[in-house]
Amino acid sequence: YIDKVKAREVFDSRGNPTVEADVILSNGTLGRDEVPSGASTGEREAVELRDGGSRLRGKGVTKAVNNVNTKINKALHGLDPTNQAKVDKTMIDLDGTPNKAKLGANAILGVSMATARAAANSEGIPLYRYLGGIDLELPQTFHNVINGGEHADNPIDTQEFMITPISHKSFRNGIDMIDDVYWALKGVIEKAGFETGLGDEGGFAPNVKTTGEALDLLVKAIQTAGYKPGKDVGIAIDLASSGLYDHKNGHYHFEGHDYDVNAWMDFLDDLLKKYPSIMSIEDPLGEDDWDNFAKFTKRVGDKVQVVDDDLIVTNPIYIRKAIKMGAGNTLLIKLNQIGSVSETLEAIRLARKNGFKTMLSHRSGETGDTFLSDFSVAVNAGELKAGAMARSERVEKYNQLLRIEEQLGKEAHVAHIPNDVDKD
Ligand code: PGA
Ligand code: ZN
Repeated sequence: YIDKVKAREVFDSRGNPTVEADVILSNGTLGRDEVPSGASTGEREAVELRDGGSRLRGKGVTKAVNNVNTKINKALHGLDPTNQAKVDKTMIDLDGTPNKAKLGANAILGVSMATARAAANSEGIPLYRYLGGIDLELPQTFHNVINGGEHADNPIDTQEFMITPISHKSFRNGIDMIDDVYWALKGVIEKAGFETGLGDEGGFAPNVKTTGEALDLLVKAIQTAGYKPGKDVGIAIDLASSGLYDHKNGHYHFEGHDYDVNAWMDFLDDLLKKYPSIMSIEDPLGEDDWDNFAKFTKRVGDKVQVVDDDLIVTNPIYIRKAIKMGAGNTLLIKLNQIGSVSETLEAIRLARKNGFKTMLSHRSGETGDTFLSDFSVAVNAGELKAGAMARSERVEKYNQLLRIEEQLGKEAHVAHIPNDVDKD
């Protein structure tokens, strides 16, 4: 049974405080996990409890830590750690708010993950097996190799430019391909006369002015590495457009231009036509622009993956709405947007049942924690985005997946998401 739950304040990859939780079982087994944190967070995400005040820019998490050490510790004592649903429900009920505002989603999620890990450790099986079924699949990965928007100080307003393997034969083969393109991109950026400093997710943050220029660099890098864009290696973008949306008039402000919504959708459609190796587009419209999100999905959804992030924030309430409206066709899944393992599993089930694909995701503020890697295999997520091939908090996610592939041996197989994009 759960003997003790304990948390501490540690730091994430941006140097901001975050919660690390320990779950200690009566047999002495420990489960420990750290909670990530976003920069372009959705309005409807579960509440990340921060202290406010002057210490650490108001970002301290001592209140969340204290909630774990007192209230949550008391409520979970004696519970069976293998009953994840009950552990999570106990914390959700104890919180009592719809968005985990009282105890903090950072407090609840840390304990939720550490509970699963403690249970797996106690049974002596890997976390991906403990949480997973019989048929385990490694995800197709999406790597944010050019960072813009809220994740870098350059002028580009597209937040993420990702590359993904298509013709990979194994997980390792896919990672090798991506690593080749990442290094080729470094050369291409240098040759174009830009700096190769990195953004928050380990991607380059060159000082190019437009999304088109960034895409040109990326296509060139894929070719330089010896791959065919759209055939061997595909491109995915995240517009994170809630940050571009003007609530006053419903316009989108992007790289110095002002678009009304129809002009904005035309612009995006043209971009997809000009760069046919783009196979996935995330948050093309803002989190409050539901009707246009559905309209745009209807327009391009049979050609590319349309990914819902800020729109649904891993919350079954908004997932149901998106399904009903036909807004998007792929759900981005972030554990800390909803704040517990059980509810994340519910979100994934809901997506599957309704024919939506799922892409699991890291946050721009991360730690060395690799819960996400095991989780992606356990739930057969199909897709995972966890950053570029740089910065340990990103790379460690992929390294853990390499270990899992090795452990699975002959049983290992890797996802290839359906795509019928043309070559560039
Ligand atoms: P965030 O960005 O972690 O900064 O919110 C990730 C995303 O928008 O997908
Ligand atoms: Zn996003």
